[in-house]
Parts: sequence; structure tokens; C-alpha cells
Amino acid sequence: MKVLLTGGTGYIGSHTAVELINTGKDIAIVDSLINSNEDVVERIKQITGKEPKFYKTDILDKEAIDKIFAENEIDAVIHFAGLKAVGESVEKPLEYYYNNIMGTLTLLDVMRKHNCKKIVFSSSATVYGDPGVPRLVETMGRRTPTNPYGATKAMIEKILEDLYISDNSWKITILRYFNPIGAHESGLLGDNPNGIPNNLMPYIQKVAIGELEKLHVFGDDYETKDGTGVRDYIHVVDLAKGHILALEKLLSADGGVEKYNLGTGCGYSVLELVKTFEKVNNIKIPYVIDERRPGDIAACYADASKAEAELGWKATKTLEDMCRDSWRYIQMNK
Ligand code: NAD
Ligand code: UFG
Repeated sequence: MKVLLTGGTGYIGSHTAVELINTGKDIAIVDSLINSNEDVVERIKQITGKEPKFYKTDILDKEAIDKIFAENEIDAVIHFAGLKAVGESVEKPLEYYYNNIMGTLTLLDVMRKHNCKKIVFSSSATVYGDPGVPRLVETMGRRTPTNPYGATKAMIEKILEDLYISDNSWKITILRYFNPIGAHESGLLGDNPNGIPNNLMPYIQKVAIGELEKLHVFGDDYETKDGTGVRDYIHVVDLAKGHILALEKLLSADGGVEKYNLGTGCGYSVLELVKTFEKVNNIKIPYVIDERRPGDIAACYADASKAEAELGWKATKTLEDMCRDSWRYIQMNK
């Protein structure tokens, strides 16, 4: 039983690699390193005692991917590889559509050739758009996302659905992540994007270590508990564990396309996250209130009951754990 992780040296992929190895799975990683570093492979080994097979390869390189499938008996793929910055996707739509859509099409074509028809795909809560209610459930339809990044997620979901219609032997699981934050408790794996971060927790981390002066809170006039945006923050290790259970279910399934929200089911505001970070880490995060960020919705959180009922998965880590682990990671990896 071998599982291929595309994008496996990235933030979520590396945590999932650790959980897979810890549950005895044989894995291989393919990553172009466009947004990660090869030293992650060594760090996975430090944590688990086992070094995963690593291919520095772009999933757009069909010949190279074909060779990886020829060399390894791959039973299933967890497909993380993709570009993920919302703002950058608005500036570089062609790069985003090309990388995410063509990369996925190339991968699926090679999988089909090698009769490997089991895939878990990293989707996002962004595919729900703004349905007008904060609690998002899988039975809601997709709404056109407001940026090219989100559009690639919605399109890939549709491609996977169409693929299954054409061939019922495919087993496909779509995981819709909410807002992953936190880091591995060893401090060896985490999220540390280059440049000025778009996302809230990486920004807070850079303020905490003094690399950025203050946090800009995007709007305090939303109809939420304190006026700031509300999101469902989920610890990346809980999220990684969701992949293990999703994969187990997929392997025993007859075929089909299943979608699961992976979130805690709780919404926290920007200011609640800031206050919690300050409290558990005993550090001040200076902030100013700014204009709303275009495209943001007021509030969203997961209805995570399907994942609990069908996968036996439930997030267990608290907002305090997420803040503590994020701080440890950034201090160890400045
Ligand atoms: P990440 O950037 O840390 O990891 C993605 C990895 O994919 C990187 O290591 C990158 O080098 C690699 N990659 C990108 N294009 C590639 C290509 N063509 N060939 C080979 N490797 C390639 O991102 P992440 O946060 O770990 O996200 C993993 C997946 O989950 C992505 O598909 C992302 O869109 C999705 N997702 C992330 C979030 C989030 O907030 N982090 C939320 C929802 C969904
Ligand atoms: N925020 C700030 N200041 C910042 C950054 C963010 O106030 O510097 C606020 C936002 O306005 C929002 C909240 O913090 O209310 C969370 O923002 P993030 O950018 O961290 O996350 P988003 O919910 O906007 O988007 C994230 C990922 C998307 C993914 C989506 C749903 O970036 O890729 O979650 O999964 F699609």
C-alpha cells in the first residue's frame, strides 16, 4: 500500500505525511518546491524516524510523473499540489489556472493510465462563496468564487465529478478545508510564507517576532460578535488526521465522489484570535483597524457533522493549542 502525496513538502502535506507514516503507511512525495523547501523531507524523518521517498518534480511534467507511477506501485494519491495565494491569483490568473488546473489534469491522466483511481483532493471552503448564512454544509451548492484561486478549486471539483460520471470505478474524496493554522508540536513543521503574508496567523506570527510592526484588522463593522471577521480556525494536525480517516474510508468504498468539510464547527473573530495569541504566549500584538478587505465575507464556519458521522473525525485541538504551536514554530524558524 503506497500513497503518493503531491505537494507533500508544503504546509498541510508535510503534516499529513507525518500522520501517514505514524499510521504505518508507505508514502512517496512529489513537489516542485515552488512554495516549500527540501529540508522538510529531513524534518519529516526527524519526527517519524522514516525518510519518505522524495521526487523534486512538477506535476505538469507528464513524463516524470509517469515514471514515478512506473517505479512505484501507487494505490492512492492525496493531491495537495497547487498555488494558493488569493491576492496573487488575481494578479496572475493564467499562472494559477495553468498550474492548478493543468497540473491536476496531467496527474489524473497519468493516474488513469496506471489504473490508480483513488484520489483525495485538497479543496476549500471558498467554493461555497457567500451563501448568506455562516454555517456551511456540504449539501449547499458551489457558488462562483470571487478570485481565480477559488475558481480553480471549484473547477477541479467539477472535473472530478465529471470524471466519476465517465468511469464509476474512480473513488474520489474532496476535502473542503476551513482555516488551517498551528504547527507541529515539535516546532519542525509549520507555515512560514515568504514576503508579507496574506493570511491572518502568518501575519500575527511576523508581528510577534518583530518582523512587522502591527497587524491590520480588516474591518470592525461586520455583523459579528465584535465587528471583526469570523472564521473556523482548525489546527493543521487535526486537519492532517482527517486525511488519514478520509483515505481509509476511500479505500473501502465502492466508488463515488464524497465531499467533507474539515473544520471545528466553531467561529472565532479576528480579535478573539489576537487576544488568545497574546494570552497564551504572553506577548503583545499591536494592531490597527483598517478598511474591509475586498472579497471578504463577514463570517463562516463548518458544519462538520458529516465528517464526524462518516469518517469518525472530529477536531480536538483548541484555539489555545493553535496559538501556542504557531508561536513555537515561528520562534524556531525565524
Ligand atoms: P503550500 O503552498 O504550503 O503547499 C502546496 C505545495 O504544492 C507546495 O509545497 C508547492 O511547492 C507545491 N506545488 C505547487 N504547484 C506544484 C506543481 N505544479 N507541482 C508540484 N508541486 C507543486 O500550501 P498548503 O497550505 O499546504 O495547501 C495545500 C493544498 O490545500 C493546496 O491545494 C491549497 O490550495 C489547499 N488549501 C489550503 C488552505 C490553507 O489555508 N492553507 C485552505 C484551503 C485549501
Ligand atoms: N485578516 C485581517 N488581517 C490580515 C489578514 C486577515 O484582519 O492581515 C482577517 C480577514 O479579513 C478574515 C480573517 O482575518 O476575516 C481570516 O483571513 P485569512 O486571509 O487568514 O483567511 P480567509 O478566510 O480569507 O481565506 C482562507 C484561505 C483561502 C481559503 C479560505 C477558506 O486564504 O485560501 O480560507 O478555506 F479559501
